[in-house]
Amino acid sequence: MVMAALSMDEAGRYDQGRLTLHVVWTAVVAAFGGLMFGYDIGISGGVTAMDDFLTLFFPRLLRRKNQAHESDYCKFDDHTLQLFTSSLYLAAMAATLVAAHVTRKQGRVRSILLAGAFFILGVIFNFASVHVAMLIVGRMLLGLGVGFANQAVPLYLSEVAPARWRGAMNIGFQLSVTIGILVANLVNYFTQNIHPWGWRLSLGLAGIPATVIFLAGLTLSDTPNSILERGLASGDGDVADAAEKQAYEVLCKIRGIPDVRAELHAMKQASQASQAVQSPWRAMWKKNKPQLAVTVALQVFQQLTGINAIMFYAPVLFQTVGFKSDAALYSAAITGGIKVLSTLVSVALVDRLGRRKLLLEGSVQMLVAQVAIGVLLGTSLKAGQEPSGVVAIWIIVLTCVFVPGFAWSWGPMGWLIPSEIFPLESRPAGQSVAVLVNMLFTFLIAQAFLSMLCAMRFAIYFFFAAWVLVMGIAAFFLLPETKGLPIEDVDSVWRNHRVWRTLLPPLTEAEARQQHMRQIM
Ligand code: BGC
Repeated sequence: MVMAALSMDEAGRYDQGRLTLHVVWTAVVAAFGGLMFGYDIGISGGVTAMDDFLTLFFPRLLRRKNQAHESDYCKFDDHTLQLFTSSLYLAAMAATLVAAHVTRKQGRVRSILLAGAFFILGVIFNFASVHVAMLIVGRMLLGLGVGFANQAVPLYLSEVAPARWRGAMNIGFQLSVTIGILVANLVNYFTQNIHPWGWRLSLGLAGIPATVIFLAGLTLSDTPNSILERGLASGDGDVADAAEKQAYEVLCKIRGIPDVRAELHAMKQASQASQAVQSPWRAMWKKNKPQLAVTVALQVFQQLTGINAIMFYAPVLFQTVGFKSDAALYSAAITGGIKVLSTLVSVALVDRLGRRKLLLEGSVQMLVAQVAIGVLLGTSLKAGQEPSGVVAIWIIVLTCVFVPGFAWSWGPMGWLIPSEIFPLESRPAGQSVAVLVNMLFTFLIAQAFLSMLCAMRFAIYFFFAAWVLVMGIAAFFLLPETKGLPIEDVDSVWRNHRVWRTLLPPLTEAEARQQHMRQIM
């Protein structure tokens, strides 16, 4: 047994790993999951605006669109068309629940591979679509991929990363989401002029990241945490010993230091605790209410920043200031580019400043920008005018203040924090909750947004601003800092938090002993 003769003194501290080439490679591969998600989010808006696409699948809508006024938001209001976009979110919600089971019982890599396979199938269906049903089936297959990828990839990144760089590495996922959205928008800009099959190209190009995820996923080894946990779960001593040896080797390779016994020891304790848990869902409900509440709130709040609605509205603003038919390109390049760069800022700062400071700063920045946009739009609309060129320029500038506020705070933290706050046994289930709630609220806001815009007009900015205020206050009082803590030790933050500790059941004697051992290591 690797750990047999280990005393606490020999073990030393265990957050010393280097950023090895192996870790960087796993991050790059895993990040393709984010690229695929971003591409799928970004591609549908442009494709559903292409006449060739509408002619083939939604001819009735095309007639309506041609008769409508440029600024008429109701022109795209069609249930089947909405189903094309939203079927992805619905399928992802269902898939992520299955993914929780697969990721725990079969390992993180198995889920990543399954995601890749679903992505490839989905792209084939979409690319070859000849009727609406094929389109929707393709979109649902992509959704199954998203359900698995968004569940397993952030988890994989957080477990593989050295504690000191966990934030930065995990945000690689969100970085690739933003790159995926940007690339999709640029692709649509060029393919809209390729008649009549430009839309096929837009949907088909997703085949590249899909194939990369699948093939490169075959080169990944699972996380040592998962290898150990599954070895113990087999109930066979030999299998468990072999798994421990394998986990040790993998950990040496990813940490790049000769002695990883202390970290392995903590993982082993977490794996042992995990064995007592039959149903991670029930355990999560009983023991991890604080984590669950924070996870749900992070996702609801991330979507209630209004990011997707505001990004949707940006091309219209660019049109108003005179970019005409190039508006979509400029809007995508400018706001999308800013989003990518700001996410990089988050990568650089998250492990130095911590999660809380970024969330709080981002909230203030978004709040100021949204209130200012609301006031500007409100005053020009009250005067009975559409926003003038100058007002629209100011709104664009303020949108460019809003976007980084989101991109270095609630955007990445929505994926990072749920992946690091749950104990090993309920980590996959916890991350599934994150995916499920994220998809649900993305879907709900996408469905409600056009009607809300019609009814509330400029006040929609105040609506989102009010939520940003609420989330800033909630983060200030309720979110503990998790920066730099080894993943199997993050649990302690809840017991030390003055609000959350009141919700937790008392530690059993064994748990108290384990916690004490970890603290003195
Ligand atoms: C969110 C998406 C959003 C994207 C924008 C993601 O974290 O979940 O809804 O479109 O960030 O960058």
